[in-house]
Amino acid sequence: MRQMIVAGNWKMNGTIDETESLINDLLAGNSKNDKVKVVVCPPYTALLTASKLLDGSHISLGAQDMSEHEKGAFTGEISPRMLLTVGAGFVILGHSERRQYHAETDKLVNAKVKLALSTGLTPIICVGELLSEREEGLTEVVVGAQVAGTLSGLTAADLKRVVIAYEPVWAIGTGKTATPKMAQEVHAFIREKLAVIDKAAAEVVPILYGGSVKPDNAERLHRQPDIDGSLVGGASLKADDFIAIINAV
Ligand code: 13P
Repeated sequence: MRQMIVAGNWKMNGTIDETESLINDLLAGNSKNDKVKVVVCPPYTALLTASKLLDGSHISLGAQDMSEHEKGAFTGEISPRMLLTVGAGFVILGHSERRQYHAETDKLVNAKVKLALSTGLTPIICVGELLSEREEGLTEVVVGAQVAGTLSGLTAADLKRVVIAYEPVWAIGTGKTATPKMAQEVHAFIREKLAVIDKAAAEVVPILYGGSVKPDNAERLHRQPDIDGSLVGGASLKADDFIAIINAV
């Protein structure tokens, strides 16, 4: 059995007041589901506030990115140890918005993945194709290269500690969700790629789907055998919607 995970990526949303209010609504609402690990990923500035409110609760904390360096003269960067000490257990790495707006490459993401693992954080590694790549029939080529590149050099033991998120770029924030069949095909393909590295690890690595997941499509997506949860953007900012997704899974 693989761990089911629903993670909320708040992106650049969440002042301290908004963070307190959203976390309190999640804790007061029906967000506890024994079959699902729930993670929220607020912006850096709200992590400590979120961490204090979530302490001892069923909701885990994650960050949205981190530096590939341990410490030092890297102005504006946040180290994995800083995240760990503020109470984060997860970190999203290689999100398409980081790739698109900050020119992050698979090589850089790979360095971050290794450092996250050695620091004790669980990386949620994002992969996914652009619309033009899907239209050209390149989905497997692109996603296959991202999986191989970001996981390069990991041992089987390391591989068992990662989470993958398949987020087709054309489905992010657009309201266009991949159909359950389209998503399942790519999830199964990713699992095959993981099995090339290590068969046993491929069976336990959760592969989340991300891209316009909403309460009304979550159940259909999660009926697919290789979809082990969601990475939710917009709908994670509304407590009722996020709770509905958790319970649909
Ligand atoms: P949306 O759910 O807003 O499409 O965002 C998905 C995403 O990018 C999560 O990381």
